[in-house]
Amino acid sequence: MRKFSTMQKILVTGGAGYIGSHTVVELINTGFEVVIVDNFSNSTPDSINGIERITGIRPSLHEADCSDIQAMQKLFFEEKNIDGIIHFAALKVVGESVERPLEYYRNNLLSTINMMQMLSEFGGKYMVFSSSCTVYGQPDVLPVTEETPRKLAMSPYGNTKRVGEDIIQDTVKASHGIYAIALRYFNPIGAHPSAEIGELPLGKPDNLVPFITQTAAGIREKLQIFGGDYDSPDGTAIRDYFHVVDLARAHVLALQRMIDGKSKATYEVFNVGAGKGVTVLQVVKAFERVTGVKLNYEIVGRRAGDIEKVWADTSLAQTELGWKALSTLEEALLTAWNWEKRVKGIKN
Ligand code: NAD
Ligand code: WQD
Repeated sequence: MRKFSTMQKILVTGGAGYIGSHTVVELINTGFEVVIVDNFSNSTPDSINGIERITGIRPSLHEADCSDIQAMQKLFFEEKNIDGIIHFAALKVVGESVERPLEYYRNNLLSTINMMQMLSEFGGKYMVFSSSCTVYGQPDVLPVTEETPRKLAMSPYGNTKRVGEDIIQDTVKASHGIYAIALRYFNPIGAHPSAEIGELPLGKPDNLVPFITQTAAGIREKLQIFGGDYDSPDGTAIRDYFHVVDLARAHVLALQRMIDGKSKATYEVFNVGAGKGVTVLQVVKAFERVTGVKLNYEIVGRRAGDIEKVWADTSLAQTELGWKALSTLEEALLTAWNWEKRVKGIKN
């Protein structure tokens, strides 16, 4: 990736979190000046130490809540000249959002509204938004392109992504000179190859790969595979898993596109995934193969709210951003395992 000669200052909201911390590393390595804001509701300052160990640079850090407008005004006033925002900060647990909808709407939507307001008030120009394949629901046709219609969200979390996209699109349309790109992530997995940063679920993981690594590490007794009767080669559900470092690179390329004046519209959307559907059992087998660890698992009933299959058509990201996933599923799984071993203190 190309280095910038004039340093752009980028605010990364949720920069201490899983995807945010990996993106901060790529931003710093590309030559951006990074400011992080995080309230540590789902992360710890340890990830900032990890970022520093990888890059040799400690980004400026504000412990604050993005949904607090006064705190954001103070941050923007103090930092001065923030050129753009990569907005990760959000609550992300689908099931929890069904139980606590107002918390999700308040946190995720107010944070997005505030970020757009800060760009308008303080003259920043670029926004990259963490959207999700959840906006497509169970699509009628696969793979999913950016033209595939969004479906009514199946959870308050999903709604915050759909409405978040709309808030950004409408604000950009009404603005003079703000550009935005929404990246619709499929299933990011893995960790930085250094094992200095990675995914750190608080409590029992919801997502497949952290559950696999925790089972392999002996933290969980058994992996339950939800659903063995789906329309797929082995009956388990299909998703599009890809390496988090590849996802981090997509953010840098999205920013570069806007900064270089290459956007074809003030608001653009790109799918980000491997472009390949893989079953849960294929993930389990790939994990066993690449790590040599045998997993204790059983196939149980379907998980409520799960879709059967989804994977991305990523040709738009490839032609327009020059992005594609470079790491294999096996490489991503190995980094996830190395990270888990480091967190748990397991020796090779
Ligand atoms: P994460 O929980 O690891 O990171 C989010 C970070 O934001 C955390 O550090 C958390 O403390 C912080 N945060 C939350 N609300 C905040 C607030 N109001 N103010 C300040 N900080 C706040 O999650 P992640 O997996 O890195 O996800 C990042 C983004 O990507 C989220 O918007 C998520 O919805 C989206 N996304 C994630 C996935 C995935 O599979 N992980 C898939 C699609 C989209
Ligand atoms: C993947 C597959 C599970 C755990 C979620 C969000 C979505 C998006 C990505 C943010 C499914 C199965 C899982 C387990 C299992 N996030 N599984 N046993 O469901 O694609 O999507 O993360 O935007 O909005 O809903 O990801 O990792 O939870 O599950 O069998 O213990 O693994 O049923 O088929 P999912 P996931």
